Amino acid sequence: MLSRRLSSASTGPLLASPSCPSSVGYSVSLCLCGRVRHSASSPLSALPTRPQAFRDPPPSRPVAYAVELSGEHPKLARAEAAAAARALGGAPVNADLERVQLEAIELEADTFAVRCSRLTEAHGAELAETIEREVGQALSDQADVDLDEPEAVVRVLLDNEAVVGVEAATIDRASHEERHVEERPDHSPVTLHPRLARALVNLTEVPEGGRLWDPFAGTGGLAVEAALIGADTLASDLDEDMVEATQSTLEHFEATGAVVQGDFQDVADAVGFVDGIATDPPYGRASKTHDEERQDLFERFLAVAAGSLDASDRLVVVLPDPELADLAPLTLEVVETFEWYVHGSLTRHIFVFERRAGH
Ligand SMILES: C[S@@+](CC[C@H](N)C(=O)[O-])C[C@H]1O[C@@H](n2cnc3c(N)ncnc32)[C@H](O)[C@@H]1O
Repeated sequence: MLSRRLSSASTGPLLASPSCPSSVGYSVSLCLCGRVRHSASSPLSALPTRPQAFRDPPPSRPVAYAVELSGEHPKLARAEAAAAARALGGAPVNADLERVQLEAIELEADTFAVRCSRLTEAHGAELAETIEREVGQALSDQADVDLDEPEAVVRVLLDNEAVVGVEAATIDRASHEERHVEERPDHSPVTLHPRLARALVNLTEVPEGGRLWDPFAGTGGLAVEAALIGADTLASDLDEDMVEATQSTLEHFEATGAVVQGDFQDVADAVGFVDGIATDPPYGRASKTHDEERQDLFERFLAVAAGSLDASDRLVVVLPDPELADLAPLTLEVVETFEWYVHGSLTRHIFVFERRAGH
């Protein structure tokens, strides 16, 4: 489910709110939520409304989930959360939620605590405390307050509006650090951080069991993230040492995937269509292009990628220079771009292409 799949997240909207979910590298909370408006004088005076269904809603009680994101990156986390939700069959909503009655919240617990997070500097701690107290009072007929070890945590995410809900799950950011490059048997200076790799994999929107290909696998950073979210993972690289490195990375993390050696074009000819591609091609600096001009390699690769995808499928690719995207054939349409600053002479340009119908 979403909390296992995302790269991080601590706060941000999946669904809804400008005040809610995602980003690369956070800890996330998923909330059963409804959105509320508040006023400083009476925070609960206009409390919510009916929750809007997000996904798998029980027939009698629609549920919406919000993801709280840390905001580590201005756009990437939000896009990742939305893409992961779509891959899981949900429908991210960025429109307003309908208003919900606070009474619609069912704690299903003996004890609870209310925690209010202020997502902007606009509100003082006093307002958050007032909201915590009033929400606590409103729910006190359902369970006892226990601030230390509550069975249920009611979260209020406070922005210009607020989202209120019961915490459904939290994302374990530390689990991504366990796959940090230094924890792997093989790694190189260009190896992607596992949180970025997970975000790229999620952006492909490949569902569980769908085939995800990394044609420039290197040490297997993307392959391991793809395998861990349940994709049918295919990793390939021209360099035999890199193929071995990817294999040992997958084994080290007990992840399963097919690993083959070969130029991406030969691999594409052999495997046919895939459901998504996430990849980090050579930059033409530290990582090898095997004597091919960088421009030629990217032009050739973008054409091969377009030919390996069905309409609406996605290629998520890291480019060392955004102008390389101009080499893409017309059947690859740019749908999103992100910048990931690494150091003074390296910014990774992440392009999300969608395959358009046609040849
Ligand atoms: C930037 S590295 C990939 C790094 C990888 N994302 C990681 O985290 O370790 C690029 C890789 O592309 C491979 N490569 C270069 N030209 C290739 C080609 N024509 N076909 C397949 N792989 C190629 C290189 O051997 C290198 O391992």
